[in-house]
Amino acid sequence: MKITIIGHGYVGLVTGCVLADLGHKVSIIGRNKDKLEKLNNGDPIIYEPGLKPILKRNLASNHIEFRLDYNSVKDSKVVFIAVGTPPNPDGSADLSAVIEVAEKIAEHLSDKHFTVVSCKSTVPIGTNQMIEKIITKKAASKKIKFATASCPEFLKEGSAVKDTLTPDRIVIGSNSKEAIEILLQLHKKLPGKRVITDLQSAELIKYASNSMLVTKISFANLISFYAEKTGADVKTVLTAVGLDKRIGKQFLGAGIGYGGSCFPKDIKALIYMGKRLKIDTSLIESTEKVNQQAKDNFLKKIIDNARGKNIAVWGLSFKPNTDDIRFSPSLYLIDKLLKRNFKITAYDPKAIANTQKIYKNKINYAADQYSCLQNKDGLVITTDWKQFITADLKKVKKLLNYPDIFDGRNIYELEAMQKLGFNYYSTGRPTIKQNK
Ligand SMILES: NC(=O)c1ccc[n+]([C@@H]2O[C@H](COP(=O)([O-])OP(=O)(O)OC[C@H]3O[C@@H](n4cnc5c(N)ncnc54)[C@H](O)[C@@H]3O)[C@@H](O)[C@H]2O)c1
Repeated sequence: MKITIIGHGYVGLVTGCVLADLGHKVSIIGRNKDKLEKLNNGDPIIYEPGLKPILKRNLASNHIEFRLDYNSVKDSKVVFIAVGTPPNPDGSADLSAVIEVAEKIAEHLSDKHFTVVSCKSTVPIGTNQMIEKIITKKAASKKIKFATASCPEFLKEGSAVKDTLTPDRIVIGSNSKEAIEILLQLHKKLPGKRVITDLQSAELIKYASNSMLVTKISFANLISFYAEKTGADVKTVLTAVGLDKRIGKQFLGAGIGYGGSCFPKDIKALIYMGKRLKIDTSLIESTEKVNQQAKDNFLKKIIDNARGKNIAVWGLSFKPNTDDIRFSPSLYLIDKLLKRNFKITAYDPKAIANTQKIYKNKINYAADQYSCLQNKDGLVITTDWKQFITADLKKVKKLLNYPDIFDGRNIYELEAMQKLGFNYYSTGRPTIKQNK
């Protein structure tokens, strides 16, 4: 099937590469010539495990191409919108890119065949109907046959290729049977339950899923506050809670909370929508509040206990296995520490280049995780990359001026920290303070 995707970010590029790998002919539209050239030369621009080889092999077999113009739209059976929908200052989703590309799609839709215009971007309820109106109005002079469909995306950065190849579910919302049939056909080779529904339900499924996930994270953090005040160990508590099959163990980790380009903005957008619909949104508002408290709680531990201002930070990305630093809790902490005259040296396996664009030389960057520690007064861990979890802790202790670890992701066992002689500040677990 011929497909056009607009946007080559984490969603557009991964979806395009996987669909190309399944045998479809994919054109991806972007707006930056340099980036398109890199993509056409096999450089994915973003880091996502396993993505580069798929991109390269589909470029070689001519199953994927990157272009500036919208000419591929007229031959495509499905056109996916996968542009960003960042937050406006009032919390609503900024739909300017969606509107802009809907108008461009309208100009290029064919009057020779039926086309599905499907939004993969996370958009407020009613947006796909709005897209339909924009296209109908803009293409009024042509006799185009099209339908909109909401196909929300559930991939996770860091495992996006795997998630796209093995989705838990594929949600298709549309008022058009023909559009649903085409999208079912397009995804035929992929596993996962199919959820066929209307436009509004599909749009709401995405927001409901993300708000459920962040509510679990904030609930875990709330329980960590109880643990800290009473001497309980939140890891044991939440492991036991998660063993209940009705609850499940995922997303029950306490720490410095969620970040990234999706969770914070989607929660804000859901609150904004709720307020406009006159719904009491206090449950999800509390989720945001607890997330903020989790970050500030951890920050206070560093400020109150660090024995010097020259600090090493492990982790810049908002989660492991990605180079994405958007709304990363790590950057929030770094900003606050810089304001208090801390000197930061950071290491991250993939996110240094993106961080350098923002901080320039406001912080130092280390070439590897151990050189980052040399002569530092303590280590702050903000992202649970595997190589931090499996670090040589004896080496860590030797390199630091003071053996103080502030662990925002609860990655080490208390017994190990005790045995190795660290002062260890984690979340919702007893502090180990043995080294004066
Ligand atoms: N990243 C995720 O994990 C994830 C998961 C599920 C859903 N989503 C949703 O998918 C959407 C895209 O997310 P992303 O992470 O891929 O974003 P991204 O920022 O990585 O990529 C957005 C892409 O859209 C392009 N773009 C923006 N405005 C454009 C315009 N006017 N014309 C053409 N191209 C334009 C950008 O150049 C970029 O390539 C968002 O709505 C997001 O909420 C993201």
